[in-house]
Amino acid sequence: MSPRRLDRIVSSLGYCSRREVRDLVADGRIRIGEDLATRADVRVDPELVRLDNEPLEAPGGLLAMLHKPIGYVCTRADGEGPTVYELLPPRWMSRNPRVTTIGRLDKDTSGLLLITDQGDLVHRYTSPKSDCEKVYVAEVDHDLDESLIAIFASGTVMLRGEEKPCLPAKLEIIAPSTARLTLTEGRYHQVRRMFASQGWHVEKLHRTHFGDYELGDLAEGEVAPMHR
Ligand code: URA
Repeated sequence: MSPRRLDRIVSSLGYCSRREVRDLVADGRIRIGEDLATRADVRVDPELVRLDNEPLEAPGGLLAMLHKPIGYVCTRADGEGPTVYELLPPRWMSRNPRVTTIGRLDKDTSGLLLITDQGDLVHRYTSPKSDCEKVYVAEVDHDLDESLIAIFASGTVMLRGEEKPCLPAKLEIIAPSTARLTLTEGRYHQVRRMFASQGWHVEKLHRTHFGDYELGDLAEGEVAPMHR
């Protein structure tokens, strides 16, 4: 990685303030490779820095998977209930660029949520041109009808208040009132609204996949870092 000032590196990764990096250096707690750092303003490769003999966390950018529980919101605003940010390691909240979710899940939806501080990743996965597949398991209020498979695949489903129909989506009925739905879009409350447009109410919604990422057996509320 290209060299940057040591104090900026350590503080931007959320460890402490730039002033406190000077104290870490003075206390002999920072090494650059094998060598003790002697100044906080030296320019170094972030990957070579070791604090208390540990490499710094994700100096090249953070990416993690969170198993979002029901009841947590993806906004940072107060007053809407607990936020997913409360589930992340506290140090991540002091990183700059700031840590954010890639897209959102509703408060009442559980499952896979990606977390990053890399703006290009957010853009890549959430831009309208992105064809990233998201897979949801939805439990609905009454038995599903096979006809929904063709309807959702047709690219003609209109959501109230919108001008363009939803892109074709793949529906698999896996139990009488449970389906797996694969979308390439991410419109507001899209899964719930697609079912509602056909007369079904989604009672439970869970995301299992996002692009190449799969939730697997990650426990609810747990975070799995995927950066180096
Ligand atoms: N569709 C929804 O309705 N809710 C979500 O959280 C995600 C997709």
